Amino acid sequence: MTIRFPDPNSRSAALFERAKRVFPSGSTRGQTYMRPYMIYAREARGCRITDVDGVERLDFINNFTTQLHGHSHPSIVAALQAQAAKGTGFNFATVAEIELAEMIQPRAKSFERIRFCNTGTEAVMHAIKAARALTGRTKIAKCEGVYHGAYDYAEISLDPDPQAWGHDDPSSVGFTKGAAESIQGDVVMVPFNDVATTRRVLEKHKGQLAAFVLDAVPSRCGGSPVTPAYATLVRDYTKKDGALMILDEVVTFRLGLGGAQTLYGIAPDITTLGKIIGGGLAVGALAGTVDAMAAFDQSQGKALVPQSGTFTANPLTMVAGIASMKLVTEESLSRLNALGDKARRAVRDAFRTAGVTAQVLGEGSLIVLTFAKEPPATYRDVYLANAAGGAQAMEELWQRLLNHGVFWSTTGLGCLSTPMGEVEIDQLGTAMLASLRAMKADDLDRLFP
Ligand SMILES: Cc1ncc(COP(=O)(O)O)c(C=O)c1O
Repeated sequence: MTIRFPDPNSRSAALFERAKRVFPSGSTRGQTYMRPYMIYAREARGCRITDVDGVERLDFINNFTTQLHGHSHPSIVAALQAQAAKGTGFNFATVAEIELAEMIQPRAKSFERIRFCNTGTEAVMHAIKAARALTGRTKIAKCEGVYHGAYDYAEISLDPDPQAWGHDDPSSVGFTKGAAESIQGDVVMVPFNDVATTRRVLEKHKGQLAAFVLDAVPSRCGGSPVTPAYATLVRDYTKKDGALMILDEVVTFRLGLGGAQTLYGIAPDITTLGKIIGGGLAVGALAGTVDAMAAFDQSQGKALVPQSGTFTANPLTMVAGIASMKLVTEESLSRLNALGDKARRAVRDAFRTAGVTAQVLGEGSLIVLTFAKEPPATYRDVYLANAAGGAQAMEELWQRLLNHGVFWSTTGLGCLSTPMGEVEIDQLGTAMLASLRAMKADDLDRLFP
């Protein structure tokens, strides 16, 4: 199919008009929103997704890193079909929830106990509540600009602009107008991987922090991994100060059998999980030490943090998760991570051949593309590069990639799935080069760094 995006006569464009009559701005999910209209999926199989106009594209988003094994993997589909016939939700526990937890538990030392929930957002929220309950403190610390889901506290300073940066330490700025202003004072902001500033800021809040929430490879900081010095600072400081270290591995759990923590030697008190452990269905989980997870212990009556949820550990998610995790082996991840290196090389080569400067970072199967002169290290580096034209360049590239058969994200994040091989990476490189050349032909050089 050769329908180009955007095409006002496409089926997607017509569906978007219909959607506008039921959803504000035609959309019910922020991340899938597109201008001038949203593309509607018809079906997806393996690493390819076909829209309602019949256009097939390679999927380098994978529902924001969730579909580790691509779409409609036969063993996940079979598990779902079998479970659907046996029931989709009960107020009894199931063997499947124990089985999935048993598959996750041995993957990292800190995973002594596990609790399931329905999203990464919930996992982060419950982890923060647990930290508060155990420490009797309210404040948390997080890195500026880093995404940890939609809990009010986790969203603070998600997108501050330079006016809000202040002259000194990162400031705590509201993200949604729907959050109470009063919570800003309870979230301490630090710059990712900046040891000196972070140490200084943390010292100012000594004895007040319940937790430090860290993502080891935050894509919104450009895709560089946490440095050993920074991870050590966070771990040592929280331990000494009586606070908990929460490692958000909702995305990074795909990097290794035990996620980023085994790769980088981090020992958090609580880890938040999601995405790949649900086999494509809505999921979240907390995994932590016996002491930290005691916050959820209800054996003596009301838990410090009562945590439940109608759909928590629902059997469909659990069986899809089991099928997915069975496919997550040392071999499958090493192959995928090596393919990630090849993908980064292919994208860099495309930029070099096109004569366009960009930074292609990320770890393993996560690839982060930023139109910047130098490799970004923090949220502010990415912000400034985007403000200088990078964000618009990414949007233009995204659109041309769509028309060269590649679905990437407008944020610059891309990721691989296990059905991909060398052929798909070659296709990515070819599509990247053709898209960059198309941008140049359209006189968009002014957007390049
Ligand atoms: C690092 C991180 N934490 C938490 C979340 C929230 O997960 P969910 O969208 O399942 O609520 C996300 C979502 O992308 C994430 O990237």
